[in-house]
Amino acid sequence: MKQENISVVILAAGKGSRMKSSKAKVLHTISGKPMLYYIIKESRKISDDVTVVIAHQKEAVIESMQNYFEDINFVEQDAKNYPGTGGAMMQVEPKHDKVLVLNGDMPLITSDALKGFLELEADIIMSVFDLENPDGYGRVIIRNNHVEYIVEQKDADDAELNVTTVNAGVYAFSKVILEQYIPDLSNDNAQQEYYLTDIIAMANEDESSIVPLLVDEEQFKGVNSKKDLADAEEIMQNRIHTKWMNAGVSMQLPSTIYIEEGVVFEGECIVENGCRITGESKIINSHIKAGSVVEESVVKNSDCGPMAHLRPLSNIENTHIGNFVEVKKSTLKGVKAGHLSYLGDAQIDEGTNIGAGTITCNYDGKNKYQTRIGKNVFIGSDSQLVAPVTIEDDVMIAAGTTVTSGEIKSGNLVLSRTKMRLVKDFYYKFFGKK
Ligand code: UD1
Ligand code: MG
Repeated sequence: MKQENISVVILAAGKGSRMKSSKAKVLHTISGKPMLYYIIKESRKISDDVTVVIAHQKEAVIESMQNYFEDINFVEQDAKNYPGTGGAMMQVEPKHDKVLVLNGDMPLITSDALKGFLELEADIIMSVFDLENPDGYGRVIIRNNHVEYIVEQKDADDAELNVTTVNAGVYAFSKVILEQYIPDLSNDNAQQEYYLTDIIAMANEDESSIVPLLVDEEQFKGVNSKKDLADAEEIMQNRIHTKWMNAGVSMQLPSTIYIEEGVVFEGECIVENGCRITGESKIINSHIKAGSVVEESVVKNSDCGPMAHLRPLSNIENTHIGNFVEVKKSTLKGVKAGHLSYLGDAQIDEGTNIGAGTITCNYDGKNKYQTRIGKNVFIGSDSQLVAPVTIEDDVMIAAGTTVTSGEIKSGNLVLSRTKMRLVKDFYYKFFGKK
């Protein structure tokens, strides 16, 4: 569907003061990725000329987007002298004759939803939707089926405030229109900003063709506050759940499950309620049980939880991870770790059983060290493995042992406990008989 004849401009220079945050608005994340990421991704599907306008926290915005895309065309707005969405367009030099302008705070937009702007022909095609509560949006004044002007909420009189048809914030302009009107914008309004939306009234007076395009609120939702962000998150999660359920993943109470955009499922998987799966995690033929957190990890032919925590760079295969087990940066293949353990910086091989309460002591307060455990090792409950340590195949560690020697050879038993003592009838002597 990529068009060689349309340029896209994404406005991402604003402060976003209504977010009440030190972070640039477009960098606030939805399902693990900044809002701006989604808009650029979708824009690239339809255009070979995507420009992002930046100003506020520009370095942070550039740095963040470079994690995801190469060769984005950034243009800096002179936001001090020319603030506002109109000011944002002043330095932009689009390549093509048709220019699609998107607000950077619309993370739910999809390339499919932009089709109408590509297909219709007019000097200006602008997006509108009707809202029960139009609060915060610019009102679109339409008379006799004719768009006359857009008035921002802060500039609107009572009659205009009652209008429920609002500007969704996406427009396709002919380049000529932009070149003609942008230099004439003024900042004579409540916010003393240069409004891109003022072009509509100017073009209308000159009898240019302005076509309103009715769009779906869900796709064109603007995020201006933390509440909007949470609402958009819910919609995005719903999309992610639907996509994976359609691919065969079973989810119990999906509304309680959080899955980030980069997560991939393969084969037949079950995700129980209350799970959180983040980063570029990959879940293959596995069962993630209630309340578990999987971060940036691979889980293959395994089950995990309830209430297990796989921290980044864990690689679990043919393994059972039970409740209250925390794994970090470890590879477990064919292992059983059923209860209450911390396994960090470890490599554990087939047939090995990790007893309840086993802890890899991977940190000495200065550095982190590795633990290697071979095949068919039996680690008794409540053992500590002080890293660096290598336990070869076929070793038995008795319950309660602290392994401090760096290398345990095959076939051995390791046992470190204080000897048990039995004091006969001590209880009765101390408490007396009841
Ligand atoms: C804007 C529209 C409003 C519309 C709404 C839809 C204007 C004047 N108003 O209002 O009619 O209903 O979007 O969501 O356009 N930006 C810049 N530079 C700036 C200011 C903003 O690049 O100087 C960027 C922001 O980063 C943001 C986008 O433009 O991504 C929109 O700015 P925002 O302040 O959210 O505009 P709204 O008040 O929502
Ligand atoms: Mg907005």
